[in-house]
Amino acid sequence: MARYAQIVGWGMYVPSEILTNDDLSSMVDTSDDWIRARTGIVERRIAAPKETTATMAIRAAQAALRVANVNPARLDLIIVATATPDYPFPATACLVQDALGATRAGAFDLSAGCTGFVYGLAVGSQMIISGAYDQVLVIGAETLSRIVNWTDRNTCVLFGDGAGAVLLQASAVPGGVLSTVLGSDGSGGDLLMLPAGGSRHPASAETVAQGLHYIQMNGREIFRFATRVMAKAARQALAEANVDLEDISLFISHQANGRIIQSAAKSLKLPPEKVFVNLDRYGNTSSASVPIALCEAIEQGRVKRDDHLVIVGFGAGLTWAAVVVKWGMPLPVPQPPRWTVVWRLARYRLAAVRSYLRRLGRRILSALTGLFVRNNGSG
Ligand code: COA
Repeated sequence: MARYAQIVGWGMYVPSEILTNDDLSSMVDTSDDWIRARTGIVERRIAAPKETTATMAIRAAQAALRVANVNPARLDLIIVATATPDYPFPATACLVQDALGATRAGAFDLSAGCTGFVYGLAVGSQMIISGAYDQVLVIGAETLSRIVNWTDRNTCVLFGDGAGAVLLQASAVPGGVLSTVLGSDGSGGDLLMLPAGGSRHPASAETVAQGLHYIQMNGREIFRFATRVMAKAARQALAEANVDLEDISLFISHQANGRIIQSAAKSLKLPPEKVFVNLDRYGNTSSASVPIALCEAIEQGRVKRDDHLVIVGFGAGLTWAAVVVKWGMPLPVPQPPRWTVVWRLARYRLAAVRSYLRRLGRRILSALTGLFVRNNGSG
């Protein structure tokens, strides 16, 4: 029997702190007019000191599981697309797995710059279509404010923090993720990068003094690249899905710059009502931008059952990707009974207790082993 990967849950989280263009103009030599005209961004969200990529990813994941009414213990795989993980390792996806109590799930981070979430959709859906897995959680989450140089007006006006998640589920109903196109061009890697902190330039006092732990970007070249690949990738994904451009209900792309989105829409001859834009409120949240946009499009009633969506991303690598989705879920989703909400919260508490007990158990075992070795040694 044919298997399809349907999006059955979605959720987002953005920090409450808002940084406006006017706020930025008191930090660097810029203005609200310049930022609006060149990017379309009006404000962005900034993570609170205690918030991290993992904490935001967990909130978005919990929201997606709530919509889908799925027990985290049934998840097979968790993919976190991010350029700003909590640590180089362990993977942020493992921190999410632990907090959700997703005891059966594999978990890994996916690094494809701002394209990461769309890459994740491609990987997750193929895992389902192949028959390997039934429930895959794909998350895009970023704390870009921690790698932005707040004295560099070329970059600091562009980025924001947030997270979005979708749950992909195996289904016999035709639709869901119909086609996926992935692309890369490593020759443009230096156009958008975080130079230090990896094996090439390990973090040191010198790399910090040179500001190599901040985002470095050639804005003009990235702009040119983005306008070139977006429409092309969308067309390829549509051709693979055998869907005509006229049958597209909504174009949801990476939210980096309003002019880039307009240029792609123009090339695809899409009217403004078929193009989703929310970068005015969040700026570029990298791999979180597409799932946040998808969540808001659903909330605004712009997605209906059997609609065809084209989802396109581009970013560091250089990378790009496009996915065509035939929406399979009836909307709006009915509210779950109150008791399920209470049970769900209790389950997350239990996951925290489970995690604590496992750590404690490991410590006790290690202490007992040490004692045994010492006793044996002295005996
Ligand atoms: N405020 C005021 N002036 C600024 C500014 C700011 N925040 N940032 C740059 N400028 C200045 C530049 O210094 C330059 O001045 P100069 O001509 O005296 O050197 C001038 O504005 C124009 O710069 P330019 O690079 O031509 O502007 P632009 O129209 O290309 O817009 C970006 C700049 C960054 C907004 C645009 O190139 C862009 O969005 N690129 C893509 C970035 C992106 O999407 N990155 C993430 C990809 S995932």
